[in-house]
Amino acid sequence: MVTETTAQDVDAADATPESTEHGQAVLDIRDPSFMGRAYEIYDELRDEGRVVSVRFRRDDDKDDGSPRSAFFRRPSKFVTHYDDVVETLFNDNFSVDMAANMAAAAKAEGKPVEEIPEEFRPIARSIISLDPPDHTRIRKLVQPSFTGRTMDAMRGKIQETVDTLLDRAERAAAERGETPGNRKMELISDFAYPFPVAVISDLLGIPREDRAQIKGWTENLLRADRGTDKELDEEVRAGLREFIAYLTTLFERKRQQPEDDMISQMVAATEDGDVLTEEEMLATVFLMYLAGHVTTVNLVGNGIVALLSNPSELAKMQADPTLAKNMVEETLRYWGPVDFVGRRVATEDMVVAGAPIKAGEQITAGLASANHDPDRFANPEVYDITRANANRHVAFGRGIHVCLGAPLARVEGQVAFETLVRRYPDLRLAVPEDEIQWSGNFLRGFRQVPLLY
Ligand code: HEM
Repeated sequence: MVTETTAQDVDAADATPESTEHGQAVLDIRDPSFMGRAYEIYDELRDEGRVVSVRFRRDDDKDDGSPRSAFFRRPSKFVTHYDDVVETLFNDNFSVDMAANMAAAAKAEGKPVEEIPEEFRPIARSIISLDPPDHTRIRKLVQPSFTGRTMDAMRGKIQETVDTLLDRAERAAAERGETPGNRKMELISDFAYPFPVAVISDLLGIPREDRAQIKGWTENLLRADRGTDKELDEEVRAGLREFIAYLTTLFERKRQQPEDDMISQMVAATEDGDVLTEEEMLATVFLMYLAGHVTTVNLVGNGIVALLSNPSELAKMQADPTLAKNMVEETLRYWGPVDFVGRRVATEDMVVAGAPIKAGEQITAGLASANHDPDRFANPEVYDITRANANRHVAFGRGIHVCLGAPLARVEGQVAFETLVRRYPDLRLAVPEDEIQWSGNFLRGFRQVPLLY
């Protein structure tokens, strides 16, 4: 029984009856060391059962008595094995509509239903937290922006962005007097972090001259998930209002003068008489930055650390850069940015992977656990960029909510890996691998990756 998954330093107040008395595993994603131990924990959970009861500890799970905190503090059934994770994600009898599910939970407990502040509504009502039929309708209208044709067109722009960022890093190194072979780069802040914001802005059609402002607004958007800090909320809301006003004007401009970009395509989109409302378009733009930014930062950071700490794999990439494609897949399998997708609530009583699940119970699909399931991937702890079935990973989820941006993320990863390896034959970690730290939030990614090149 895995009951020792809490942080070593869990204090007495944190040692809730659930974790001790009911032998429930606690996944403490606030603990900076959690990500380093997580795969061992998943191994134990897989051995323990196909469905295991867990509770998450997160930054925002302080019990402030609100229905929101009560909802997040509830235990979840964690699905551990590959086949079951896939089946769970294809199961239509789960709802991801958090607003509706929180309201239902509050009602059942006789608590008042919390109103979502207006500025947060586009975040709360984006497709990642909507069920059919709204989910189906909106997804169908935005899907055309992610076709193979659009991605082919994006590849050139992505290459340009990668080269521009690396040219800038090289100039900064030259100004510091560093010479090729011994130049320094902090991969995350110099390259991986700004990279996807630029790409998403290109995809959306945000004018280049507005990019500096967009950067501030997207940073603000990333802080918008907290919800419990009232003062911060006010600041975040003010920033969201500015972003919303900017986007509303931009939508109108693209309506008048459409270009070849996602916003123009959204304002024009109609299918079977459906159109996107203003709020749905805002929600979709917000979601692009929320779902497509830090995930991609981490894909790049995780891949480069994995590659540089496995000399045999680096040699393979240097000999054959076309392996960049499979390197992306193997990185997603080995160290995918999203360890689990949760907050799915059963809409009826059912059996999942042999375990009874009651209507109203929460379930979490263990993506990272599935990607390291030895019944699916031989030697899952080995990073092998020539692994034949690497692309069978579930790092992008499955089913109706499967990552919409997956084709974009794949091209971003391929171009970044291929270019870094091609441009810098001396590329290496500037510190021992074990000094590179996971960032300690719910996404798997490194805080900083110091490189020499
Ligand atoms: C390596 C990078 C990425 C990873 C690992 C990733 C992972 C995921 C996962 C696991 C889901 C499913 C969530 C769930 O089932 O609850 C998802 C959904 C989504 N992702 Fe990504 N993502 C990445 C990049 C992107 C990018 C670049 C974009 C867009 C620019 C994007 C947009 C979305 C959207 C819109 C959804 C919601 C789809 C829906 O609910 O129908 N993602 N992503």
